[in-house]
Amino acid sequence: MLHRVIYASEAVGATGVSTLTLAHILGASEANNRRDGITAAVMFHRGHIVQAMEGRRADLDRLMLRLLADRRHTGLRVLVDTPISSRMLPDAISVCPDPRALLERIGVVEISRLTANEAEAMLDFKYAA
Ligand SMILES: Cc1cc2nc3c(=O)[nH]c(=O)nc-3n(C[C@H](O)[C@H](O)[C@H](O)COP(=O)(O)O)c2cc1C
Repeated sequence: MLHRVIYASEAVGATGVSTLTLAHILGASEANNRRDGITAAVMFHRGHIVQAMEGRRADLDRLMLRLLADRRHTGLRVLVDTPISSRMLPDAISVCPDPRALLERIGVVEISRLTANEAEAMLDFKYAA
């Protein structure tokens, strides 16, 4: 049984802004997610982070524990946690290339008040440029 989890959090310092922080996060994510059969997409926008991930329950739970302990972001809140019949995310990890366009298309005004429905809608446009 596969599950999907989507969370939002707030970046600490240069997380997601500097190339180096991004490279560190993506490097670990690529390796770990491949190992664990997790697919994921992450978005960084003006200090806000939204990440969706899909995989087996135990693997997602272990990842969530690492994410909760990661001081590069804070205020993590789970928006969606649901069983799924098939994946929407094809890659071990991908980064949304144009968060502003994505949010505009969905009509999100405030990421800090992102709803579960809006978070799910973001998956449809995950690679929107
Ligand atoms: C915004 C953000 C997204 C992350 N996404 C993932 C991820 O998808 N997979 C992952 O394994 N680690 C991810 N991490 C890193 C984890 O919090 C943790 O540092 C890492 O899994 C530890 O891996 P290691 O035990 O191989 O060093 C992310 C961290 C941040 C700040």
